[in-house]
Amino acid sequence: MTKTGDKWQWIIGDAPPPLDPHSKVKHQLVRDYLYKYIGVLMANEKIPRLKLTLVDGFAGGGLYTDGNGIAPGSPLIMLQTVKEAEAYLNATRTQTRRAVEAQYHFVEPNPSSFEYLTHTLKAENYGHLIDNDIRLYKNKFESVCADITAAGVSHQGGQRAIFLLDQYAYNDIAMPTVRNIFQNLKGAEVILTFNVDSLLTFLTDSKQFHSITQKIGLEHYINWQDIARLKAGSHWRQMIQRQISHGIWKASGARFMTLFFVTPKGNRPWSYWLVHLSNAYRANDVMKTVHWEHGNSFGHSLDGGFFEIGYEANKDIDVTSQSEMNFTETRAFDDTLRSKSVETLQDLLPRMIYSNPKGLLFNDLMSQIANQTTATEKIVKESLHVGVASKEVQAVIEGGGLRAKGSSIHGTDILIPHRQRSIFLGHL
Ligand SMILES: C[S@@+](CC[C@H](N)C(=O)[O-])C[C@H]1O[C@@H](n2cnc3c(N)ncnc32)[C@H](O)[C@@H]1O
Repeated sequence: MTKTGDKWQWIIGDAPPPLDPHSKVKHQLVRDYLYKYIGVLMANEKIPRLKLTLVDGFAGGGLYTDGNGIAPGSPLIMLQTVKEAEAYLNATRTQTRRAVEAQYHFVEPNPSSFEYLTHTLKAENYGHLIDNDIRLYKNKFESVCADITAAGVSHQGGQRAIFLLDQYAYNDIAMPTVRNIFQNLKGAEVILTFNVDSLLTFLTDSKQFHSITQKIGLEHYINWQDIARLKAGSHWRQMIQRQISHGIWKASGARFMTLFFVTPKGNRPWSYWLVHLSNAYRANDVMKTVHWEHGNSFGHSLDGGFFEIGYEANKDIDVTSQSEMNFTETRAFDDTLRSKSVETLQDLLPRMIYSNPKGLLFNDLMSQIANQTTATEKIVKESLHVGVASKEVQAVIEGGGLRAKGSSIHGTDILIPHRQRSIFLGHL
């Protein structure tokens, strides 16, 4: 290995680079997300096979040094996780096997790291798959993205594809490239790393930063005139983060997004985001579940419970002078956030339901609020429990009957205001 700045290069014969704590968290997330998502897509036992395209757009050399041992990099993690998920799907089956037919695309432009990756795949017994199910590209991701997307289309099966775009900083992926993925591959998802701190620290209303942000497709989302004023204030990072997160979401063209900081336990500062973009609500929910499961390793600086993606002047303390608008600290996905989310949603969801007197399908409610809450579907159901149990809200089962508990609500249930109560309460 050699290191230039904060960038590693893999060299055959040398020890692989050390696995830093951030990457460890990221690897855990990729592993858990992929495993869970395969489980969700294959939840119906009658589905015999899942076709999946897995792209590692910034693959690296495939191995790390971790303490005294060796740890897999993201390409091996993808391969191993699919194997494990497939074994689980077949664990109790005696007859026909269920299969995950994955095609892998690994991209690494650095010649030495590319050779190392090829060598690693062969050493780990994946050599026979190279040029078949595993395609390797010694290129920059952007130059092969269209080819990979086309291969994903021809792999069929709902065109399900996960693109892991683990760039070092923030400027190796242009948002229009991400948008193209979504436009051309209907089942695509993107997991993107974005080192927001290294952008924000030096960001000024200058030719240099206009050019950088234009290149990555985010220039229009930054309120340039405001930067100097915001930077003189106390919470400028959060303010500008809101503009950039909003930009990533809008420019990607994806319907759903989670965007949270990755931070290993006790490790500060909060420097980079792990962004998940998808058009499938279920994918968004699975990603949130994984964030909660690794609660101390992820953080957010948004309102607990409910938030808007994007800049909100009414939340700008330097504009409003309302210091009680407390969304300035970055916090973990912990019990405090969970109770705050339940508390906020307990108040807010009945209001949403009362403003839909004809009823609101639970699935539609979830799609409407997915980008505005850190809460998973499970937490939302928990938040509805008080309303359902007190009959303030009724969850009507498709085909008849009412739910007695929030946790039993199904996606196809229709949430309606309690008729008599809505007459008494009028507008909430
Ligand atoms: C953070 S490392 C990837 C680590 C890998 N995802 C893992 O977790 O095991 C980033 C890699 O991207 C490669 N890289 C740099 N610029 C790139 C580009 N434009 N397209 C694709 N890969 C690039 C670097 O050579 C480096 O190996």
